[in-house]
Formats: sequence, C-alpha cells, structure tokens
Amino acid sequence: MSSASQSRPWNVQWLPPAEGRIFLVTGGNAGIGYFVAEQLAATGAVVVLGSRDTAKAAAAMASIRSRFPGAHLRHLQLDLADLSSLKTAVDRLGLEHLDAAVYNAGVALDDPPRRETEDGHELMFGTNHLGHFALTQWLAPLLSAAPTGRIVTVGSFAARSERLDLGDLQSTQDYRPKRTYGRSKLAQMCFGFELDRRLRAVGSAVLSVVAHPGGALDSLTPSRPPVRVTTPGERLLALPAGLLVQGKDAGAWPVVRAVLDSEVQGGQLWGPKVFGLRGTPRREPVPSHMTDPAAAARLWAASSELVGADPHLGFR
Ligand SMILES: NC(=O)c1ccc[n+]([C@@H]2O[C@H](COP(=O)([O-])OP(=O)(O)OC[C@H]3O[C@@H](n4cnc5c(N)ncnc54)[C@H](OP(=O)(O)O)[C@@H]3O)[C@@H](O)[C@H]2O)c1
Repeated sequence: MSSASQSRPWNVQWLPPAEGRIFLVTGGNAGIGYFVAEQLAATGAVVVLGSRDTAKAAAAMASIRSRFPGAHLRHLQLDLADLSSLKTAVDRLGLEHLDAAVYNAGVALDDPPRRETEDGHELMFGTNHLGHFALTQWLAPLLSAAPTGRIVTVGSFAARSERLDLGDLQSTQDYRPKRTYGRSKLAQMCFGFELDRRLRAVGSAVLSVVAHPGGALDSLTPSRPPVRVTTPGERLLALPAGLLVQGKDAGAWPVVRAVLDSEVQGGQLWGPKVFGLRGTPRREPVPSHMTDPAAAARLWAASSELVGADPHLGFR
C-alpha cells in the first residue's frame, strides 16, 4: 500500500490499490458479502468468493465483471454448515498464501422451529460461529504465509444486548430465533477478539479484526442484476428507514476498511459512524462483554471440542 494512501483520510469511494493481494469473502455471492467482494475487486486484488452455490457465485462474478471488466475473481465452493467439507475446500484453493479472509456468510432465521446442520449443530450457531471457527484451522497456514494476514469477522449490533449462555450454546432449551442469532453473532465477535489475543501471545503477524455493517437493508441497496434487483416500489417504501439504516453496499464499508487499511490493528472493532447504524466507517469502543477472558476461554474450549479442532487452530 502506498504511503500516499495513508496520508489522506479514508475514502470509501477511493480505496488503496491492492494488486497482487488475495482476499477470500465467505458468502461473497449475495448481500453485504457481494459488495465486499465488489469493492475489494475494484482495488485490483484477487477476490475469492466463498459460496455454497455455483450459479449464485457465477452471477455475482458476472455482475462484478460488468462493472470492473479486469476484475480478478474466483469461486470457492464453500458450505460452512458442513464442517467435514472445509479442509477439502481450502485444499482446492491451491494457494500459497492468503492476505485476508472475511468471515461474512451468515444465516438469520426469524421463526421457529429450531433447525440443525448436518453435523447436528443448531443452524445459526453452527454456520455463523462454528463454521468460521473450523475454517480458521485450515486457513491458518495460508494467512501466516502472507506478510500481514488478516481475519475480518463480520459481527452485528444484535450482539450488543445479548449474553452467551455457556451452558446452552446451541439453544437446546428455550429456543428463540432472534436471541439465538444475536448470540451466534456475539460468539463470532468474542472469537474475533480472543483470536487476536491468542495471535499476539504466539507472536503471529496475522491480525484478527471485527467489523459490523450497522443496519443494512436490501431495499436500500442499489440493484446488481442478475444478483438482485431493487424495484422502485421497494425503494420508495424504504425511504423512511433510510434515515436510520443503509444499503448493503454501505454496510460493506467498515468490513472493506478492516481488510485494506494498513492503520487498522488487530483486536479493533469497526462499524458505521452514525449511531453504529449507518455511514462511513469509524473505530468503535469494544463492549466489555465481548472481551471477557473467562467467557472467551470457555467459548473457545467448547468450540474446539464441537468441531474437533486443535485449540491452537494452526497458529503457533
Ligand atoms: N443486513 C444487516 O442489517 C446485518 C446487520 C448486522 C450484521 N449482519 C451480518 O452481515 C453478514 C451478511 O449479512 P447479509 O444481510 O448480507 O445476509 P444475506 O444477504 O442473507 O447473505 C448471507 C450470505 O451468507 C451465505 N451463507 C448462508 N449460509 C451459508 C453456508 N452454510 N455456507 C456458505 N455461505 C452461507 C449466503 O449464501 P446463499 O446465497 O447460498 O444463501 C449469502 O451469501 C452476516 O454475517 C450477518 O450476520 C447483517
């Protein structure tokens, strides 16, 4: 990254060039992940779209290429709800290093019943947290081989008001979808901060950063055919909401900054500047319940056991 890029304020429309760097975005085929991939692709970097659906990934790549014809894009078949598939997926990447992995993919259910992954984990905790936790052990050698590898975990404001139930991480008792979703995001954010502490403890050059998009609605998002089209009617109905929240293009901004800005440090939290809901990215204070060392240690131990991973996750 040039020194010039560091001497001016961060501009979401004028990103530093990143030719030669390689970024993986989980869930890069839709929503915020699509816009993270699009914005990163505009820097000249190689962007790998981690997506479980080949047709959706192809549509996303076609859309990005229609805007940036020279974009360097790849698709990685990736299903975070199938833990046993993750090692093979990373092996298929065939890369010697990875500059950043964006843990964006997520599932949010609104209604019961409680659902489980093939591995028997509650679907939101299993996909959002355990899927990315397990993925880390396979990405670790690639990230460690980059000059300053980064993991950017996408959290949520929904995690602010939640607390983990360490005795029932998978919501087997009293399942409430919104609460379970918020707790899965909290688990991801606790993981992101704890990972950075552990990386520093072993002297790794890899950074772990947490970013969140604020509130990001499809109806406030510019169309990207064939990925998604926002109709004029949807846009009109969403106008009042636009005072508070934003589109998924803007939701991607804090995540993209966490990937690209050389001044961002491990253990930081980034989000939108207007009430943490909309606007350009800024650094936020980290809520104390997200960095409670005892809770993080218990979550880490339970997660390692549930996914069958070495607790070091490949970082030593
Ligand atoms: N939108 C918001 O206001 C908001 C607020 C706070 C945080 N967030 C977080 O931001 C991230 C993106 O949200 P979004 O609103 O963009 O969601 P979205 O539009 O529903 O997109 C979710 C993405 O995750 C992928 N995904 C789901 N399950 C997967 C699996 N098992 N394996 C691989 N990929 C999977 C989806 O792939 P398919 O297309 O195949 O389903 C899709 O690409 C999530 O982590 C979410 O928690 C969003």
